[in-house]
Amino acid sequence: MTKVLILGANGATAKIVIDRLLNETADDLTLYLRNAKRLSQYENNDRVTIIDGDATDVNAMTAAMTDIDIIYSNLGGTALATYTKALIAAMTAAKVSRLIFYSALGALHEVPGKFGEWNEQAIGAYLPGFRESDRILNDHNEINTTQIRPAWLTNQDEIAYETTEANEPFKGTEVSRQSVADFIVKLIKAPALYPNDSIGLNKPNTDGDQPAWM
Ligand SMILES: NC(=O)c1ccc[n+]([C@@H]2O[C@H](COP(=O)([O-])OP(=O)(O)OC[C@H]3O[C@@H](n4cnc5c(N)ncnc54)[C@H](OP(=O)(O)O)[C@@H]3O)[C@@H](O)[C@H]2O)c1
Repeated sequence: MTKVLILGANGATAKIVIDRLLNETADDLTLYLRNAKRLSQYENNDRVTIIDGDATDVNAMTAAMTDIDIIYSNLGGTALATYTKALIAAMTAAKVSRLIFYSALGALHEVPGKFGEWNEQAIGAYLPGFRESDRILNDHNEINTTQIRPAWLTNQDEIAYETTEANEPFKGTEVSRQSVADFIVKLIKAPALYPNDSIGLNKPNTDGDQPAWM
């Protein structure tokens, strides 16, 4: 049985992943989040441990990592690189070596054309955090990280995605959170997939200069 730690567990994608893992696996889940009362619906589930904590708190994250096999970070925000440093420090202290990390399109300067230029402006406040996190994670190859670089997220009720490799131009403009969650669940079920890698996710045939709803 796998023990999974989910950081930023109240995140929109994380909540889809949690319910899928509870339904489809026998995994034990540790949910780490601020204001933990928000996930009180899992309080009585004996496969779930809930921990109230901030992603800057190395000691609390280290303690949360006791006996954990795989960590999935759903953390986001302009301070992401600060969280990534704290996460690596905690993983090193706790001797946990498998990480699934939520990044974004543009982290590798891989988005081509007009959409790439538009994206650079649209998420300009966030891109330094994704790029710095990528550098930090690449400096720690002893931690086997799969970074996920989704296109713009939607709440469409669909699982429809294709992938691009780290050295390929990014494809498409959008992808559903359900699709990203599907990829994360696949990785948690088969953690030997995509070692030390960074994978783009997009909905097929959504190329354009901006996401369709803009
Ligand atoms: N929006 C897009 O189109 C897009 C596209 C590509 C990638 N992304 C990336 O995808 C990530 C996941 O997307 P999503 O919609 O699932 O995210 P989300 O709902 O915004 O979840 C992000 C989580 O990070 C948590 N967090 C931030 N700072 C924290 C801290 N100091 N301590 C503990 N938790 C902290 C937040 O906690 P609180 O609930 O406590 O604030 C939130 O639950 C985004 O954060 C972004 O980096 C987004």
